[in-house]
Amino acid sequence: MLRTARPRHYLMCRPTHFDVTYSINPWMRPEKLTEPGIAVTQWERLRQTLTGLGHQVELIDPLPGLPDMVFAANGATMIDGTVLSAKFRHEQRAPEGPAYADWFAARGYRVHHAEFVNEGEGDYLFTGKRLLAGTGFRTTLRSHEEAAELFGHEVVGLTLVNPRFYHLDTALAILDDDEIMYYPAAFSVGSRARLAELYPDAVIATDHDAEVFGLNAVSDGRNVVMAEQAVGLAAQLRERGYVPVGVELSELLKSGGSAKCCTLELRSVEAAS
Ligand code: ARG
Repeated sequence: MLRTARPRHYLMCRPTHFDVTYSINPWMRPEKLTEPGIAVTQWERLRQTLTGLGHQVELIDPLPGLPDMVFAANGATMIDGTVLSAKFRHEQRAPEGPAYADWFAARGYRVHHAEFVNEGEGDYLFTGKRLLAGTGFRTTLRSHEEAAELFGHEVVGLTLVNPRFYHLDTALAILDDDEIMYYPAAFSVGSRARLAELYPDAVIATDHDAEVFGLNAVSDGRNVVMAEQAVGLAAQLRERGYVPVGVELSELLKSGGSAKCCTLELRSVEAAS
């Protein structure tokens, strides 16, 4: 099958202040050495990979004291030009919510300031017609209701049960409007059944591919940018006509993040029409 890429618009944040100084997920071990210089180099390559594929990348200024701000996906959720701000579960990341909201407001976007805890596209993945919404560790069910009201799209709540896969985007990726890939073991029994019903032909990740964060991927409908260690997923994607594009993001994985975590999709009204 021939796949067509649609050019995308992303927001990213250079990991100038990246470090692992606290632990809010099982990947984060502050006692281990991080090499922020390597994080910047790896992140630069990710950015160049995306621009090289024809995508537009905007940048937000990194703020000192916010070592996780590189994970732009958590900064907000934007659909059809409307922005739902993020409201972080943990106080260490709380100031990132207003920082990202200000970026959008300064550019004239309508920002709805979230009432309930949600971590942006970490837990909200938009397929083009429905919003897949994670809960269990970070984003709350109340937020799912808030998002449904705000965006006016169907919201499908999915419960995560394994703390290593604490955000939806660590366990599931949208490949195209009607195609996804995911790791069933990260979800509750009920959510697994719901996913199987909605996406009977989904790509299923092995334990290995999930553990190297291969599902934390950025797809434009043809090219799928993801951790190069996810070789099983890459083979499955190739069989379906996608083009896997491997990137090395080992430094960011020390904080529990990879390619998708670093990119927030800007879906303006123009892009939607
Ligand atoms: N250390 C960050 C946290 O635990 C990593 C966030 C990764 N972002 C993502 N979209 N999954 O909050």
